[in-house]
Amino acid sequence: MKKVIIDVDTGIDDALALSYAVHSPALEVLGVTTTFGNIAVEEATRNTLQILELLGASQIPVYPGASRPLFRELKEKAKLFHGENGLGNIELDRPQTAAKDVRASSFMIAQAKQHPGEVTIITVGSLTNLAAAIMAEPKLVDLVERVVVMGGAVTVPGNRTPVAEANICAAPEAASLVFQSGIPVTLVGLDVTMQTLLTREHLQAWRELGTHVSRSFADMCEFYMNAYAQVGNVKGCALHDPLAVGVVIDPTFVKATPMHVAVDTSGGPSDARTIGDRRKQPAAAPNVEVCLEVDQERFVTHFLQHVFSRQK
Ligand code: BDR
Ligand code: CA
Repeated sequence: MKKVIIDVDTGIDDALALSYAVHSPALEVLGVTTTFGNIAVEEATRNTLQILELLGASQIPVYPGASRPLFRELKEKAKLFHGENGLGNIELDRPQTAAKDVRASSFMIAQAKQHPGEVTIITVGSLTNLAAAIMAEPKLVDLVERVVVMGGAVTVPGNRTPVAEANICAAPEAASLVFQSGIPVTLVGLDVTMQTLLTREHLQAWRELGTHVSRSFADMCEFYMNAYAQVGNVKGCALHDPLAVGVVIDPTFVKATPMHVAVDTSGGPSDARTIGDRRKQPAAAPNVEVCLEVDQERFVTHFLQHVFSRQK
């Protein structure tokens, strides 16, 4: 089993990613760390506790993280896509468990030291916790197995701005620091996630499954799907964060290309853009493995088989 830490801004697709990870026999979730992005960090922590309890996985510890970017102001939350509460305005039971009294970045460092070379960190929100961890303990870059980042858009348009993806937009300097740090990074960006769609037929199947969990997720995802439709994506909603988990479960879901990727931190119109040097003779050595192709059919099938049930 792969040891993973999942860094979330829970968020509807974050909730799907958690459910997929918790049910995967290939993963051991050491803990979940929270950050801002879709919503404020306090809401992300609450939602994460609620989702883990809904999934019967409240034994997985939750560590609260950064409440704002290291180097700039907090942006508005993504109410259109995730609702006022981050979970499509679906009310779940109040959490019975509490988050741990240890910072997210400290937890990342401690786990990497305890299991050198074995921990994969999956980030599906802003990169602030990981950047803070690297600043506090530069050896982290050699201690983790890999970082899988849901973020960026190297060959396709952005979603938060014409050129920038939401997780990078939330804290561009943090993303830049992580990419330049030497830590092994796989980038699961909009290049591939926009091809992995959850459709209304899938939600109908979840309703017919009839469990409290499957119906709650169908309700949340219906909100998400309606938001997608409002911005012109009528076929379904993207499985952004679940794909980052999927890439750890089975790296053959994607094809990744080594590339030098820089993050624009100018604050101008291309702020937060992930600029991949795709020339035949790039100016700098690759620092990121960028996922450019996905076997979307195989991934979506696997996701649907495992998201609510723990089976091989
Ligand atoms: C990413 O931004 C967030 O809104 C989603 O949860 C996902 O992590 C997609 O751009
Ligand atoms: Ca997210």
